[in-house]
Parts: sequence; structure tokens; C-alpha cells
Amino acid sequence: MDPVRVGILGLGTVGGGTVSLLRRNAEPLERRLGRSLEVTRVAVKDPSKPRPVELDGIDVGTDAESICTDPEIDIVIELVGGVDNAEPLVRKALEHGKPVVTANKALLAERGNELFRFAGEKGVDLAFEAAVAGGIPIIKALREGLAGNRIESVHAIANGTANYMLSRMRTEGMEFEDALKEAQDLGYAELDPTFDVDGIDAAHKLALVAAVAFGAPINYQALHIEGIRSITREDILYAGELGYRIKLLAITKHGPDGGIELRVHPALVPEDTMLASVEGVFNAVQVVGDAVGPTLYYGPGAGADPTASAVVGDLVDVARTLGASPEYRVPYLGFRADGMQEPRWAHV
Ligand code: HSE
Repeated sequence: MDPVRVGILGLGTVGGGTVSLLRRNAEPLERRLGRSLEVTRVAVKDPSKPRPVELDGIDVGTDAESICTDPEIDIVIELVGGVDNAEPLVRKALEHGKPVVTANKALLAERGNELFRFAGEKGVDLAFEAAVAGGIPIIKALREGLAGNRIESVHAIANGTANYMLSRMRTEGMEFEDALKEAQDLGYAELDPTFDVDGIDAAHKLALVAAVAFGAPINYQALHIEGIRSITREDILYAGELGYRIKLLAITKHGPDGGIELRVHPALVPEDTMLASVEGVFNAVQVVGDAVGPTLYYGPGAGADPTASAVVGDLVDVARTLGASPEYRVPYLGFRADGMQEPRWAHV
């Protein structure tokens, strides 16, 4: 069978990781899919910039829009990041009947309702596993594995950079700024690292998780957000003396008055719990369902290979049902469009 032709917009940490993972695991991927996945075009800002990945055989240019309209491209992977610059590209690809795989949580948290509606109208997929919790397949777990449950609560360590920084400040006694610099050097932080330290990145992810967990429209505006900027080494030290770790938690659950809470803030987590033991760039998501009870998902929350793992997982999913009628495909938020309900959001 013909290969599935893939175009990638953006070749930063995740884009490079995706190209190299597709090459490295081409053989098992083809056995899974029955077709090969071939990156034929990539759009970058600066084609002369050296890349840590082999690009031979790939058409590398600067015109991202032409990839979105190219009849020779079957699936578009959007990794340019940002909202205003990414939205027209995603729309253009969907408009041209091309499914989109994206890691762009900011875009979906802010414009996801319109984009998912548009993708539905066009009958194409908009897949976003890589947008939430790096390599942990949490969207798939909530949407498919736990579909039999009413979700009661989600508590997540959803930002690898913040968790890495808190860990380094605790174990190495590092200053906030030095820990941030390390996380940036390792490629974990967002282009604008204030998103990581101010809880915004975790909030983007939580807005998506809550939509999938509760079958609700995405509501980033309803979130209470507080980051880790004011946390000092002393806070971490004193918390330790009292038997706690400080973690940046993203929480959504039914509040005491029945409304759904959505909040991101630093929290004192008892040292003997599993969430407290999550250190470094790792993420963890604890989901309680009414049937299954408590479950925990753990894994690397950022970085080239882990995030590429989620991108390629989505790519395989999308490629499997390429051209199939929408009723044979899993809705990407897990609920039918007419099954989504606006809950009462609790104001924290
Ligand atoms: N900056 C993000 C983080 C990258 O540190 O978690 C993965 O979404």
C-alpha cells in the first residue's frame, strides 16, 4: 500500500523527536498500521539552522500554509506552538480535509471548542494526546479506557518543568532561577517559560482534561491559576520538616456544592503518597472513576522522545481511519458533539 504522507509544521524539540522516532521505529509502525508513515514535507522558520536530526529525503521549506493545502499530504502535524500563528494553519489543513495532530495545548485551551466543531463539520480528526502530560496517554485513558465511568476527580502533576524545578530546589538546594535555567537547557520549558512557572501551561492541560473527563466544553476562563514563582527553598525545606512535598497540582473535581472545580496551584502533598514521590520532569495523573476507583498514570511529562511518542501514537490512530466515515471514529473529546453538556463551574 502507498505510504501515509505526513507534513510537519515546526521542527523544534518535539518535531525533531517525531522525525527521528518515525525513522527509528518505522518497521514496527508499518506492522501496526499496514502502511508506512513517511514525513515528506517539513516547514521551519529558518531552513539553514542545523538540526539534530537527519532530514534527507524530506522537502524542508518555510511555507507552512502550502503544506496544509498540499494534495500530496495526508496528515498534518502542527508543532509551531502559539495561538494566533497556529490557528490559521490548523484551520487551513482541516478545511482541506487533512486530519491534524497537535501538541498545542494553548491553542486548544483557548480556541479548542471552535476548532473541534470545525473539524467535526469537515469530518476530519483533530488529535491532541501530545498536548497533555507528555508521553502519558492520559487522553486515551480518560476517553476510551475509562469510558464506562463517571469521572469523580483528577489530580495531576501536569507541568514537567515546574516539577523538575521543585525537585531540584529540594534535593540540590538550587535557586529558582538556576533550576529554571536547567529545565530550559534540557528542552522541557515552553518558549515562554512564564507559562511553566506561572501555572498557565498546567492550566491549558487541565482545561482539556476536564473537557474529556466530564464531556464539557473547554472552559479555560473558569480556571483558578497560581504558579510556583513565590515558592522558596525555605518553603520546601519547612514543608519537608512537616512531612510534605510542595507540588504544582492541577485539580478538577466535583466541589462540595456540586459545581466542577478547575484549579492549578502549589499544594502541600503528604510525603507518603504516590503523587509526592513524582520527581523531576515526570508527570502523574490520578483519576478516580465511580466504577474503577482510584487509578494513577505516570511517565515523562516533557522532552523530545516522550512527547514524540504521543504524537506518533496519535498519528497511527488517525492514519488507521484515514478517510473513514466519522461514525467509525472515536470523537476526539470522547463525547459526541450533541452529548457535550456545560456543567456548573465552581468558582474557587
Ligand atoms: N513545558 C511543558 C512542561 C512541556 O514542562 O510540562 C510539555 O508540555
